[in-house]
Amino acid sequence: MLNWDTPLTSRNVSNTAPAHPNIVDAASSQLAEVETHAAPLTHAQQATNDAANKSGLDGIAQGAGRIDVSEKRIINATADVNQIMPMKYTWAWEKYLAACNNHWMPTEVSMQADIAMWKSRDGLTPDERAMVLRNLGFFATAESLVANNIVLAIYKNITNPECRQYLLRQAFEEAIHTHTFQYIVDSLGLSEGEVFNMYREVPSITDKDSWALKYTKGLMDGQFDTSTLEGAQSFLRDLVAFYVVFEGMWFYTGFAQILSLGRRNKLTGIAEQYQYIMRDESIHLNFGIDVINTIRMENPELWTAAFQNEVLEMLREACELEVAYARDTMPNGLLGLNVEMCTEYMYFITNRRCNQLGLPELYAGAGNPFPWMSEAIDLKKEKNFFETRVTEYQTGGALSWD
Ligand SMILES: [Fe+2]
Ligand SMILES: [Fe+2]
Repeated sequence: MLNWDTPLTSRNVSNTAPAHPNIVDAASSQLAEVETHAAPLTHAQQATNDAANKSGLDGIAQGAGRIDVSEKRIINATADVNQIMPMKYTWAWEKYLAACNNHWMPTEVSMQADIAMWKSRDGLTPDERAMVLRNLGFFATAESLVANNIVLAIYKNITNPECRQYLLRQAFEEAIHTHTFQYIVDSLGLSEGEVFNMYREVPSITDKDSWALKYTKGLMDGQFDTSTLEGAQSFLRDLVAFYVVFEGMWFYTGFAQILSLGRRNKLTGIAEQYQYIMRDESIHLNFGIDVINTIRMENPELWTAAFQNEVLEMLREACELEVAYARDTMPNGLLGLNVEMCTEYMYFITNRRCNQLGLPELYAGAGNPFPWMSEAIDLKKEKNFFETRVTEYQTGGALSWD
């Protein structure tokens, strides 16, 4: 059961003790013992070992020494990817546990009030309706783009089992998010053709998705790998494009728009679902930041001054694309939001992402015009988020909005 007081607290996030007693960074005592078990390899065993590549999937290195935790790396590892234990990156495992503890399904949220409001003539203004449709249109396919990037581009290049464990969970969450948009479209009786084709038909959405897709394209090539400087930098660009930009910047205008509706008691079912999505996405973002920063530490040769400038330029372009999207979705301003405030908010978010990557801020002095969004993200305070309308917890994770 979901409980707004507990999601990201000591039970399930980073600064907690490892959840399993066997999770230790230095499994030296076990490894010392392992040495005594390693018998000399036969000729056939050695041949098999030679054939086995680093994926651990082309052949089993029979009789080879047991895994040394120090050989584990995020990319280009030589350690067997089939063995999650001993664990090296406990932050990845802890995010996996946090994500499992946050499990939810869109169908747990009642849509009755939303359906009534959407169908009533005066429930929403024309500008609010237009914003909601464009908002859904962006997310409806964005979740699939992110999921496909995880499964087809990221997973195979991450050579660490505990990170892969989290990626498997994240991929499922992206499926739940896609399910959410199917459920909303179905519940409100919206045109699925209109909503799911906006990424082809609405330029401000096409521009964002096209920008991100170009970073995936090269990784889809069967020949792609991260063993070269060029390949590893391409992989980092893809991680920045999807984790930092897509999930860490571009979702936030959309979250602010729908949560503003919720704060005014409008479309509260959708607002509740967006809150659950935002909770998931904040872990996705933080996982991506941890992966990027760990790759940086393990491969400092990748993080050149020129590459840092390139990443900054990516963030600047992404910020401009998001401002254009905000202008397109609410040209007249609504719900206490306007383009200027959304622009300032995106500058603020972009600066935060720069900080998280150890880069200088791009927009000096940008403030946060939506401090309530910080509260919404900091879910420990969530109980008070919707102007105290959340009055009690219910079974099945539903929140009361009256
Ligand atoms: Fe998602
Ligand atoms: Fe995500």
